[in-house]
Formats: sequence, C-alpha cells, structure tokens
Amino acid sequence: MSVDMRVDFAGIPLRNPVLTASGTFGYGTEFAPFLDLRELGGFVAKSLTLAPRHGNPPPRIAEASSAMLNAISLENVGLEAFVNEKLPALPEGVTVIASCFGTEIDQYAELCKRLSSVERVAGLEINASCPHVKSGGIEFGQDPQVLAQLVRACRRAASLPLVVKLSPNVTSIAEMARVCEAEGADGLALINAGQAMDVDVATRRPVLRNVLGGLSGPAIRPIALRMVWQASQAVKLPICGIGGIATAEDAAKFLLCGATAVQVGTANYLNPQAAAEVVRGLAALAAEQGLTRVQELVGALEIPPPPS
Ligand SMILES: Cc1cc2nc3c(=O)[nH]c(=O)nc-3n(C[C@H](O)[C@H](O)[C@H](O)COP(=O)(O)O)c2cc1C
Repeated sequence: MSVDMRVDFAGIPLRNPVLTASGTFGYGTEFAPFLDLRELGGFVAKSLTLAPRHGNPPPRIAEASSAMLNAISLENVGLEAFVNEKLPALPEGVTVIASCFGTEIDQYAELCKRLSSVERVAGLEINASCPHVKSGGIEFGQDPQVLAQLVRACRRAASLPLVVKLSPNVTSIAEMARVCEAEGADGLALINAGQAMDVDVATRRPVLRNVLGGLSGPAIRPIALRMVWQASQAVKLPICGIGGIATAEDAAKFLLCGATAVQVGTANYLNPQAAAEVVRGLAALAAEQGLTRVQELVGALEIPPPPS
C-alpha cells in the first residue's frame, strides 16, 4: 500500500515533508536539469534582501570534516528580480517558500509585506540567523528581545504563513522557540549553520577571507537533532528540521524528534538529486515500517524510562 506523504507545515500544504534549504538550491531553476522540482515538498529560495546584494570576497567556502564552511554572506538578486525573473521561470506546481533577510527590522517587514501579495509564494521564512553577516555584530536570532521585535514586525506585515529560521548559536533554543510562538509565528525552521572557523597552518591564516563562516553538513546533524527535539518539547509550533540531512534515514530522525518537515541543504552540493532521493527513500522507509501516513513518524521518538 502506498504511504500518504502529504503534510501541512505551518499552514502550507506540502505534497511530502522534504524541502530544500535556503542558499543551497539557488532559485530552483538551477536544479531543474537534475530532478523534477515537483517531486519535492517544496523549496526555500536563497534569502532575499530588498536590493540586490554582493557577497563576501573569496575564499568563501571550504571543506571541513563531514562538513562545509561558508561565508557567502547572502549574495542575492534582490526582491524585484526574484519576483519578475526567478519565480516566473519555475514550472507550475512547485511550492516556493521565500526567505527574507535584512540588516534592519523594517527591511524584513517590508519584504514580508511585498512578498505576501506574490501569488507564487506559499510562505515566508525569516532568516533570523545568518552566522557571518555584519549588521550590528549580532544575529537577530541571538537576543530574545530583538527576536521578539523582529517576529512581531514580520507578523504584522505578513499575510502568508510565517516561519522563523533559528540560529544554533544560542544558549537556549527553547527560549527562542517560545518567543516566536508568543509573537505569532506559524512555524519554526532550525537550524541554520553554526558559527565556525578554520585555519591554514602553513599560511597562518583563516581559511575563509571573512575569518568566520557557518558550519553545515553531516557534522552538525546531531546538534540539529538535539535542538529540534528541545524546541518541539518547548512549543506547539510545527518545526522544519534542518542540519546535515543527506538520506531518508536522516530525515526520519528529524521527524521522530518532532519535526513536521525537513530541509536538505549541503547534500545538494554533493548530489543535486539528494532531496528527490530523500523523498523516495522516506516513502519506502515509512512503507517498510507499515505506516499509512508519513505523519505517523512525527514526534514518535520513544525515550526509555530512566533506570529504577
Ligand atoms: C553555501 C550556503 C549558503 C547558505 N545560505 C543561506 C541563506 O541564504 N539563508 C538561510 O537561511 N540559510 C542559508 N544557509 C543555511 C542552510 O539553509 C542550512 O540551514 C544549513 O546549511 C544547515 O543545513 P545543512 O547541514 O543540510 O546544509 C546556507 C548554507 C550554505 C551551505
């Protein structure tokens, strides 16, 4: 019997729970030669700013153990080109979530407002967590009060489902999740890349020109699982799990820890068909476990009682 793969994430109906992560899947069209975009639950486009934006100078990506370091710094085409050029180039039936970024709260709110009237956009993800952008020196997602102001402003401005993407660079992910819930977010996405650096001993220089970057890929998966699980214990909001997902089994782990959906990120660089393979593999895994709906995996983690 085939498994019902549909899920509702934060008010966004998805044909399956597998999306691709912002910044690792371009504007979707780049991957069209490799997979049928309609096979995915959807994709989150590269974070947008109001105006086009250049990134950091190279070197801005580097390999690390089971991971990748990047300091791209939100290079993007800007809102207008996204709406007028990138979205119309996508095939019909692809679910698109737009990601918003700004250096001021007003810029986020303006993006939310303008994107809310764009027909092809199904939902908004607020990137409150870029680990290598200099804007007052702190990520919006690191200070609970600043995060509250940001989510409040975006909530007021947005009429589409609002998902807040959280940073792993915090002491208490539960606290940040509760702030988002209190301010009216519809869902959470976590985690973004963790702040990191690496060093070239021969040159005695940091490997990234920007010095600091974000760590992503399989190495961060256990940290991401821990944070998704803690957030799912703290709030009722649906969660999209992100961090080192490359296989169906990885995705299933996030669902078990309480995520309703997942995003595939760095794995797209290694294998541009990774996300479609995760969709197929997850359906097979759910069927093998005798499930009729993939949703049955969500939050089904079994924690043995403590030894008596
Ligand atoms: C090259 C690169 C660029 C990224 N750009 C963005 C971005 O623009 N916006 C965003 O919210 N996250 C961005 N991310 C973070 C990913 O969306 C994701 O949260 C993170 O990489 C962890 O997932 P992964 O281990 O599956 O890659 C980027 C990651 C990489 C590797």
